[in-house]
This record gives sequence, structure tokens and C-alpha cells, in this order.
Amino acid sequence: MFKTLALSALLTLGIVQAGAAAETAHVEDYAFPFEGPFGSYDRMQLQRGLQVYTEICSACHGMKFVSFRSLGEEGGPELPEDQVRAYAAFYEVFDPELNDGQGDFRTAIPTDHFPRSALANAPDLSLMAKARAGFHGPYGLGLNQLVKGMGGPEYIHALLMGYTGETKEEAGAILYENHIFPGGWIAMAPPLYGEDLEFADGSPNDISAISADVSAFMMWTAEPKLNARKEAGFVGVIMLVILSALLYLTNKRIWAPYKRKLEHDRSV
Ligand code: HEC
Repeated sequence: MFKTLALSALLTLGIVQAGAAAETAHVEDYAFPFEGPFGSYDRMQLQRGLQVYTEICSACHGMKFVSFRSLGEEGGPELPEDQVRAYAAFYEVFDPELNDGQGDFRTAIPTDHFPRSALANAPDLSLMAKARAGFHGPYGLGLNQLVKGMGGPEYIHALLMGYTGETKEEAGAILYENHIFPGGWIAMAPPLYGEDLEFADGSPNDISAISADVSAFMMWTAEPKLNARKEAGFVGVIMLVILSALLYLTNKRIWAPYKRKLEHDRSV
């Protein structure tokens, strides 16, 4: 009885899993430089990702939780201070204190944040890399995430590359077929085609490279202190190793007189 129950439960899980897999395609693992215990952000990649966001994605998507100032902070794109100021000056922000408390627009300064999404139905991208998981399962256990990580940036990368080219109209809106998006149809027109822009450092600008760079940048906006966190963790592990060695030696020393006595007792 128990056996059949367990078997049918497993089968149901299997079918649910297979159903989900049929609907949305598989997100491939991608070796981003910030992965693994010693991985860290590649400054040049983050700068390229910022360029992709600025020139393409920002037309629709905002990043209201990210400050311009953070673009110059350690462990990020690390733009020099004058470039951060110049970059911020490209944007206009609404300041409620201007114009006798009625508010007005002014040129942005480094302490301001990126604007909200320009398009109402385009989600804010600040935390997107941590709001989506690329890896699930097997069978709802989440073990894949233990091995490969959440897969947020992998999901974004796969999404940008996941268009089939098919479109359909539904309730007056155009939807684009995308194997990675849950449900298979997304309201975002394919934003990348490859060679959409030129990188100043001469890096490849095929669609896969551009998409990986902007996905890495999204990971940084969602987790800007990743480098510092890993360094602190590493120092912590070293301190624990030293502490363990000291404890071992102390322990030995404390018990030494009794052990010697025992050996003495045994020998007589
Ligand atoms: C023309 C406007 C437009 C541009 C340009 C654009 N997007 Fe979008 N994006 C949208 C809209 C609209 C949605 C919501 C789609 C939906 O919910 O069906 C969306 C959704 C998304 C999502 C969320 C998907 C999900 O799982 O919910 C991500 C990630 C994303 N865009 C990334 C990007 C990146 C990266 C770029 C730049 C390379 C970009 N977008 C450029 C309009 C745009």
C-alpha cells in the first residue's frame, strides 16, 4: 500500500516536472567570472553591461534602487569620479523640493538614483537577477541550485537569446514567442540582434556576448557587494582555521599531565 502511494507520488511529481519542462525550455549554465568561491566581477564586463543597459534596455526599464554613485564604488564598474558625474548628468530627475515645494526636473547628480521604468509594463531591473531563478529541481528539491547557484543571470541571458521570431496579437498587444519566458509568450520585443553597439575595449559584440555582459551587470546591480562579501568570508575561514589549530594545541596542553599520569599508571 505504502509502496504504491510512494510510487504514484513520484510519478505525479515526474509528470508535473515534465509538464513544466515542456512549457519552458532549459536554462543553460553559463560560466560567469563572479561564480565559484573565488570568483569576482570583471570590471570591464560590468562597464560593457552598463553601456548595453544605457543604450538599449534603459529605453523601457528603470533601475530605481541603484544610485549613480555606486558605479564608482569598489567591486563594481569602478568608473572614475568625473565619469560618474558626467554619466549622472545625462539623466533628469524630479526633485520635489524645487520650485517652492511644487517640484521640478533637474540634472541628476551622483547621489541620485537611476529613474523608474519609462514603460509602465516593463519591470524594474535593479534586483531582477535575484528575483528570477534559472535552475530548479530535480523533482522540486532545488538540488540543482546547490550545485549551480540560483541562475538569475543565466535566466536573463537565456531569455534575451530565447526568442524564436514568432509573434502573435492578443487583446491588442503584440506578444513574442520566447522559449525561456514562463508561458512561452513575452510582451518585450527582442531587444538584441547582435552588433547592436560597439564596445570601446573592442570586445566581441555578437548577440551572445552582449547578452552575457548585460546579464553580468544585472547581477552586480542586484548584489553590488559580492566581491567584498567573498573576501570577508575568505578571511573568516582563515581565522577559523587558525583558531582550530590553537584550540587543538591548548586542549593537548591542558590534558597532558593526566595523560602522562595514565601512561605512568599503565607501566607499573
Ligand atoms: C521596448 C521596450 C523594452 C526594451 C528596450 C527592453 N525591454 Fe525588457 N521588458 C519589456 C517589457 C514590456 C517586459 C515585460 C514582459 C512581460 O511581462 O511579458 C520586459 C521584461 C523583461 C525582463 C523580465 C522577464 C521576466 O521573467 O519577467 C527582463 C529580465 C528584461 N526585460 C530584460 C531586458 C534587458 C536586459 C534589456 C536590454 C538588453 C531589455 N529588457 C530591453 C520591455 C523592454
